Amino acid sequence: MSKKLFIETLGCAMNSRDSEHMIAELREKEGYETVDDFTQADLILINTCSVREKPVHKLFSELGTFNKKKKSSAKIGVCGCTASHLGKEIIEKAPYVNFVLGARNVSKISEILHKNKAVEIDINYDDSEFAFKDFRSSPFKAFINISMGCDKSCTFCIVPKTRGEEVSIPDSIIIAEAQRVVDNGVKEIFLLGQNVNNYGRRFTGEHEKVNFTELLRRLSDIDGLQRIRFTSPHPFHMDDEFIEEFSRNPKICKSMHMPLQSGSTKILKDMKRGYSKEWFLNRVEKLRSMCPDATISTDIIVAFPGESDDDFLETVDVMKRVKFDQIFSFKYSSRPETEAQHFTNVVDSDVASQRLTYLQSLNNEIIDEKHSKLLGNIYRIYFEDLHRDGHIAGRSDNNIVVKVKGSEELLGEYRDVKITAIGRTILTGEIIA
Ligand code: SAH
Ligand code: F3S
Repeated sequence: MSKKLFIETLGCAMNSRDSEHMIAELREKEGYETVDDFTQADLILINTCSVREKPVHKLFSELGTFNKKKKSSAKIGVCGCTASHLGKEIIEKAPYVNFVLGARNVSKISEILHKNKAVEIDINYDDSEFAFKDFRSSPFKAFINISMGCDKSCTFCIVPKTRGEEVSIPDSIIIAEAQRVVDNGVKEIFLLGQNVNNYGRRFTGEHEKVNFTELLRRLSDIDGLQRIRFTSPHPFHMDDEFIEEFSRNPKICKSMHMPLQSGSTKILKDMKRGYSKEWFLNRVEKLRSMCPDATISTDIIVAFPGESDDDFLETVDVMKRVKFDQIFSFKYSSRPETEAQHFTNVVDSDVASQRLTYLQSLNNEIIDEKHSKLLGNIYRIYFEDLHRDGHIAGRSDNNIVVKVKGSEELLGEYRDVKITAIGRTILTGEIIA
């Protein structure tokens, strides 16, 4: 009988891909199959996130629950970004944890499993050319890593300390992986990196010069591949060549994530983001002029140390001008090993909450207004998500989520859908062709 693996994944898409990699390695090399109930599992893995403080607290309470209710012989492993930054502290605090495996060390999962109380957290460990076994949680869409780590030093961000220096994966490996998934019926790929449009900055071995724009061109030559998405690009690296390729290339989905963080040039400087409010708006303008149908999503941090009311109003100003299609907004959370943790001009937490609430309600107004104009529009939807209530949902090229009445025969299919009802996060439609 096969051994049972329970894995919980927190955080970003890259963590989801790391979990897929670990599942693949454990299936092929160790004979594990995944289960949804941890009390049945022989191995429990938590793939953690440490970008904000909250999930770190949650980790220790969850570990306690796992330990109390798990099978007595089951092992527990803590993986991912919190593993990288807390390391052996995790085993000191929760001595029943069997091993700790950092975000940059996932290729070692089947090794570490057999070592008790081992800690592998080298943030510069290089598995950019490691031949992972294959496993994908969706037969319709495939995540593909194109780089690991991040070379930026945004002062609020812990990621460079948990995922290490940026290394690009050779383009031949990426293209071969894309070809393989397309041969298996996948029509849409999702390229992942902390800073995708810095691709090609550094490879491990000898490699011809290839930047992200060129990588996109090469991938779009794959027959049968219909859609390419990616996250996250960095506004600093959005040069004209990149925006032009994005706009012109029909396989590249017309939805761009542009993490603003703040609309105040002063705060952007303190964050070491490398661009100003004007540059950001200029890039939005360039994108909108070349590609009017593109949707734009963003990340915003409120109440970064030193953010005055006027600084916050600059963010509000960018929100009103750009009218983002989706925002992910967060209260600043001080993180260890970052520069900003030493900044003293901390914003009062009530003010932070008010700013976040204001931003989110402004965003809701913007979205409601934008969506009300979509009624009657027709979108080509790629169906990938079956709901239990007789609906099936998918996305348009420009990332609008639409559900229609339908069942599983639509999974993995494209249809033209006319919008018949509006919602904030999901629209309703009917298939017309
Ligand atoms: N390069 C990655 C960034 C990963 S972190 C990307 O663009 O996806 C994802 C988001 O979390 C960031 O864009 C930022 O908005 C938010 N974030 C990062 N550190 C944070 C902190 N200390 N406090 C609050 N939000 C933070
Ligand atoms: Fe973090 Fe900035 Fe890199 S947000 S992941 S240091 S681009």
